[in-house]
Amino acid sequence: MYVPDRIERVLYTKEELDTRIKTLGEELTREYDGKNPLFICVLKGAAVFFCDLIRHIECKLEIDFIRASSYSGTLSGELSVSKSDFPDITDRDVVIVEDIVDTAKTLSVLKKLFLEENPKSLKIAALLDKPSRRVVKDFKADYTGFEIKDYFVVGYGLDCSQEYRNLPYIGILKTD
Ligand code: IMP
Ligand code: MG
Repeated sequence: MYVPDRIERVLYTKEELDTRIKTLGEELTREYDGKNPLFICVLKGAAVFFCDLIRHIECKLEIDFIRASSYSGTLSGELSVSKSDFPDITDRDVVIVEDIVDTAKTLSVLKKLFLEENPKSLKIAALLDKPSRRVVKDFKADYTGFEIKDYFVVGYGLDCSQEYRNLPYIGILKTD
């Protein structure tokens, strides 16, 4: 298995991720069967999770992608999101799919922008949640894969300066 030098240890193996994501897919199938929801992937971090998740959802659905970035290295920066790229979500059942809820600044801004478009419903599915780092108090995803401690994690779509997204597991990055 490819484990780069800066990976301290594996936090979730591919098998653990698969098992949890299958369960999330089953929950989402029960919730959205018969509703033709729109699942929106927040690029780039959520891409790997998104592709696995939707294949565990067994009902009619549509997908779309938006791009938001808030991180530079491991330091929290300003959110950049382009509203001109927004899909038409008016009167749709929408699920935003994100990699991780950290301070929750990204998702709280995205949620506000989405709600302005009057979707029929809006929910958030995040693979990881780091509640100890929350700045936007009380923010919670509707569907969460794993709650983690204050580690900086990479792999399975998550990066550090664009590296490590291809790892099939979630690993903890060594702090310098
Ligand atoms: P928030 O706005 O602070 O909640 O940050 C959310 C974004 O920061 C996520 O979509 C990730 O792209 C990035 N992020 C937060 N924590 C981590 C981490 O541990 N590893 C990699 N990216 C992270
Ligand atoms: Mg992200």
